[in-house]
Amino acid sequence: MVNFNAKFTNDGSVGLYSEQIGDIYHSIYGALSEAYEKFIFPANLDEFLNTHDEIKILDLCYGLGYNSKSFLNFYFNIYSKKNNFIPHLNNYINSIYTNNICNKIFHKITLHGVDIDKNLLKLSPLISHKKKFINTKKNMNIFSKKNLFNSRKFFIKDYINIFIFLNLLELYKKNYIDKDLHEILANNSNKKFFTLNLAYLIKKFDLEGYELSQYECLLALLHNIYYKYISNSYKNALKLFKNENIKFRLYNQDARSFIKSTDLTYDYIFLDAFSPTKAPNLWTAEFFGNLYNHLSDDGMILTYSNSASIRNAFLKNNFYIGKIFNKYENRFTGTIATKNESLIKHKLDNFEIGLLNTKAGICYHDNAELTLDDKTILLNRKIACENSNLISSTKYKKEYKCSMML
Ligand SMILES: C[S@@+](CC[C@H](N)C(=O)[O-])C[C@H]1O[C@@H](n2cnc3c(N)ncnc32)[C@H](O)[C@@H]1O
Repeated sequence: MVNFNAKFTNDGSVGLYSEQIGDIYHSIYGALSEAYEKFIFPANLDEFLNTHDEIKILDLCYGLGYNSKSFLNFYFNIYSKKNNFIPHLNNYINSIYTNNICNKIFHKITLHGVDIDKNLLKLSPLISHKKKFINTKKNMNIFSKKNLFNSRKFFIKDYINIFIFLNLLELYKKNYIDKDLHEILANNSNKKFFTLNLAYLIKKFDLEGYELSQYECLLALLHNIYYKYISNSYKNALKLFKNENIKFRLYNQDARSFIKSTDLTYDYIFLDAFSPTKAPNLWTAEFFGNLYNHLSDDGMILTYSNSASIRNAFLKNNFYIGKIFNKYENRFTGTIATKNESLIKHKLDNFEIGLLNTKAGICYHDNAELTLDDKTILLNRKIACENSNLISSTKYKKEYKCSMML
């Protein structure tokens, strides 16, 4: 039985839970909202795009692809509408008002997603999204009326999912709908989590007796169905798929082996791993050292973690670090690491700087080859904490509170 524990999160997008890891993949407040709030908006993409003609993004721990999809959606539906004058690319200006999606590409875009779970990569373009905000009492407490309105604005256009689907079909060909995927899709209790178009596609395969693994049939059907029902989205997706300026690629690989094998440098790295205690191998000082080598000088790593040990691991590798401000929740929700100090908008405060020098700030460590397993990484850190003379974070917090009251 394939592990697929899904439920709708509060903004209508699908969130997952892993029993095996004992961790959530997405915040219950909104899987999609979280992608915009923790990665896309704090990345200051407008400023970057207005001053560069190329952008390279690495989405580590791609999962269902919310961060990559939100970037594409931001680019084609928010950025391109706001910025119809790009100083270094003014030959495009006249074409912006035409409805050809490719006229909205002002940059060379490279977008790479990496995830160890093949099923999630393949399912990512097929995931549905309830358009209506889920209006529970709990939500009303969490979101003010204003935020409720804002969270409704998060969306992913159909053609972005189809674009990803086309790329995956190209990658997997006959093996797209394999045994695992079929098991997940055929399970009745999962059906609500997938798009109607896909459900229709699968049904058509079953009814008409097509072999599920036939790539050509799948493409032909996809072509027919999308042309018939959502032709504009399909046409846009095809145009993007064929456009030379946008290079999208998914890697079904361990993030550590990926980073060791790539020779690319990225402008943005979205690090969306499970929490440090569940997946410490993607939060070690050694892994961050490798990320440093693959980040451009104007680049930025974004993570949702604000733990002192993670911040110290960045500092040990000569990054400048800052905080992510979430304007919807009106609080700081993560960490930004860069090579360029001027990109930091929110510096750590005195309390947070002090916390770095407590036991909570002790880093997770890997070996130089990045091959230690999670259990060993956790054990080594536990031993380092036990042998450390540093003050505990609990004591530090108490002392800090008292000093503030004096
Ligand atoms: C918190 S979820 C990320 C959610 C994701 N960004 C999304 O939009 O759905 C963590 C992801 O990390 C992936 N993962 C876990 N260990 C990994 C590894 N060593 N290398 C690459 N991906 C990994 C899991 O499969 C999971 O999809």
